[in-house]
Amino acid sequence: MFGFVDNWGGDVETGRMRDWPRGVIPFGGDYNPEQWPREVWREDIAAMQRAGVTFVSLGIFSWSWVEPSDGTYDFGWLDEVMGLLAAADIAVDLATATASPPMWLAQAHPEIAPIDHDGQRLWPGSRQAWCPSSATFTAYATRLAEAMARRYHDHPALAMWHISNEYGCHNTPCFCDTCADGFRDWLRQRYDSLDALNEAWGAAFWSQRYADWSQPLPPRRTPTFPNPGQTLDYRRYQSDALLQQFLAERAVLLEHSPGVPITTNFMTMRHFSHLDYHRWAAHLTEPVDRISTDHYVVDLLADPWAEQAFCGDLTRGIAGGGPWLLMEHSTSAVNWQPVNRPKPVGGTIRDSLTHVARGADMIGFFQWRASRAGAEKFHSALLPHAGEDSARFAEVCRLGEIAGRLGEVSGSRVESQVAILWDYDAQWATQGPALPSAQVQYPDLAIEIHRALRERHVPADVVYPGADLTAYRLIIVPTLYLVSDAHAAAIEAAVATGADVLVTYFSGIVDERDHIRLGGYPGAFRELLGVRSTEFAPLRPGEVVALSGAHSGSVWSEDVALAGAEAVLTFTEGPAAGHAAFTRYAVAPQGGSASGVRWYLATRPDRDTLAEIVGTLCASAGVEPVLPGAPDGVDLTRRRAADGRSWVFAINHTDLARTVPVTGVDLVTGRHTGGQCEVPAGGVAVVRED
Ligand code: GLA
Ligand code: ZN
Repeated sequence: MFGFVDNWGGDVETGRMRDWPRGVIPFGGDYNPEQWPREVWREDIAAMQRAGVTFVSLGIFSWSWVEPSDGTYDFGWLDEVMGLLAAADIAVDLATATASPPMWLAQAHPEIAPIDHDGQRLWPGSRQAWCPSSATFTAYATRLAEAMARRYHDHPALAMWHISNEYGCHNTPCFCDTCADGFRDWLRQRYDSLDALNEAWGAAFWSQRYADWSQPLPPRRTPTFPNPGQTLDYRRYQSDALLQQFLAERAVLLEHSPGVPITTNFMTMRHFSHLDYHRWAAHLTEPVDRISTDHYVVDLLADPWAEQAFCGDLTRGIAGGGPWLLMEHSTSAVNWQPVNRPKPVGGTIRDSLTHVARGADMIGFFQWRASRAGAEKFHSALLPHAGEDSARFAEVCRLGEIAGRLGEVSGSRVESQVAILWDYDAQWATQGPALPSAQVQYPDLAIEIHRALRERHVPADVVYPGADLTAYRLIIVPTLYLVSDAHAAAIEAAVATGADVLVTYFSGIVDERDHIRLGGYPGAFRELLGVRSTEFAPLRPGEVVALSGAHSGSVWSEDVALAGAEAVLTFTEGPAAGHAAFTRYAVAPQGGSASGVRWYLATRPDRDTLAEIVGTLCASAGVEPVLPGAPDGVDLTRRRAADGRSWVFAINHTDLARTVPVTGVDLVTGRHTGGQCEVPAGGVAVVRED
C-alpha cells in the first residue's frame, strides 16, 4: 500500500482500479516529473487542474530512475507522483519505462547498441540505443515491465499501459550481428528452403546464390546497389523484430495487470516509414489494445495541413475505422526542424481538433512542462518556459475546456465513401534501389489526391488494401507499385460489385517479392483498367509536359495504349506525346449488376487538373460532400454515433471567417448556429447536428 491514499476504491470485479476519463475527450500529455525537483510536482498538478488536464503519460523515459542499478528498484518518487495524480483525479497512461535503456545496462551489455548501415555503433548518450533483435534487451525490458505491472496494476491512478515509445524511432534499421542472426531465422520461417529464398530474392542475378543458411546478411553497405528483395525483407524483418519486443512486454502486462488497456504510440507521419503498422494492428485487439499515434506538423512541407489530415485518416484506417488516440503532438514549435516556428494563435486548438475530426478520441501532447535542460529544451509544451502567464498557456486552458465539452463525440465514427489505399510493403519497395525514377515518392499522389478530396469537402479513409473495400463508392490506388495477388483481387472484387477505382502510375508493377509482373504495365491492373504500356517515360526533375486541354503533368509519363479504355487526357508533348495520360474504362453491365468505372492516371497532374479529375471521379461515383455549398478553405468531416447522432467538424484554414451551412449546437462556443455556423479565421466549429 502506498500510504498516502487509504482507500483506492475502484472496480473489484475486473481488477481495474480506474477508468479512462469519461464524458470528456481526455486531454493531457507526457509528464516527466523526474526532470524537476519535488516542489514543482505539486505546482504541476495544480496547473494541470487549471488547464483541464485529465490524463498524463508518465514514466516513458524513466528507466534509470525506477531501476537505478541492475535489479534495484526505486519506486518511491513514482509512488508519490502516482498518488498526487490519483488524488487530483488525473488518469495515468503509465509507461513500462523501457524506451531508453539506462547507462548501467549499456555498460554491462555493450552488444545491445544498434549498428548502422556502415557498421558504426550508435552509442548511449541520446535515447533508444538498443538493437531491435536483442534478446538481452527483451529480458531486461520485460523484467522492468513486470516490476511496473506488479507495483501499479491496481493503483487508482492507472488507466492505461504505455509500452516503450515510438518503436523504431532512432534504432532501426540495425545491422548488427544479432540482427543478422535474427534475420536468418526469420528467413527460414518465411522461405523454408534456400531454393525458395534464392527464387524470391532473384539471387541468380549477380551471382548472389545462397548455398547455406549461414550466408544471408542484412543489406549492409555494398559496392553498388543491394539486392532489392533482400532490402525489402530486411525492412519486414526489422518491423517484425520490434513487434516481438512489443508483444513480449504486452504479454507481461496481460499476465500481471489484466483488464487494463494497453497502447504503444505509433508514428504515422509521412517521413516515418519504419514499421508496418497494418501488420502491427493485426496483433492489437479489442478490448485490450488501443491504437495511438503521434503527429507533428512539418513546417517545411509545401502543405503541412494536407499531410496532417492525411495522417489522421491513415491512423483511423490502422485502427480499423474506429476511434484512435492522439498520444502526442505539439502545442507550438518543435525543436527538430531546421527552423522551428511557433504555431499561430489558435493553432494549438485547430491542430488538436483536426485530429478529433478524423477520429481521435484523445488529445495528447509532448509534453506537460517545457524542459529547462536536455536535448528537447526548446520544444514547446502545455506549460511553456514563460509559465502560466503566457498566451500559449491561455490557449491550452481554452483547449482543455473544449475537450471537456467534447465527450459526447467519443466512440463515434468518421463517415466516408472513399478509400485511399496505403500499404507499407509498397512504400518500402518504392524506396528500394534502382527504380525508373527517383521523382516517384510513394506518399505524393496519395496525399495530393486526399487534399483534392478535402478541398471538395469529401472525407476519405486511408486503408490497407486487405481491408474490407466493399462499402466504398470510390477507391483510389495511388502508386501501389507492389501489390500481392490477393490485394489485386480484392480491388477487382470491389470494382465488380460497383465501386469506381482510380489507379495511378507505377502501380501493380511487382508482386510481394518485388518481381516484375510480365506482359506489360501496369501489370496487375492491366486488364482491370483496359490499358497497356510497354515502356515508362519518367520526366526529369522540374520537367512539365502539356496534356490535352489546358492541362499539364510532371514526374511521370508512359506509352499508354488503349485496350478497352478511352483517353480522357492525352500527353501532347514530352517522351510519351500522343499517348493517353488519363483514361476511363466503363465495362458494360454483365448479368444485371454494373461494375464500377475504372480510371488510370499516368502522370502527376498540376493542382487544377487534379482538382478537375477528382471532381469528375466524385461525380461519376456519386460521392457526396459532407455538406453541399460549404465554403472553400474549410475542412469538413462528420462523425456519427451508433445511435445516429452526428457532429460536423469544420476546420477553417483561411485567415477570414467562414460560414458553414450546418444546423445545431456548436460545442466549441456552446451556441446554436441557427443554420449558418460562423467559423472564425484559423478556428474550429464542432456542431452537433439537429
Ligand atoms: C517524439 C517523442 C517524444 C518527443 C517528441 C518531440 O514524438 O515520442 O518523446 O521527442 O517526438 O517532437
Ligand atoms: Zn541489431
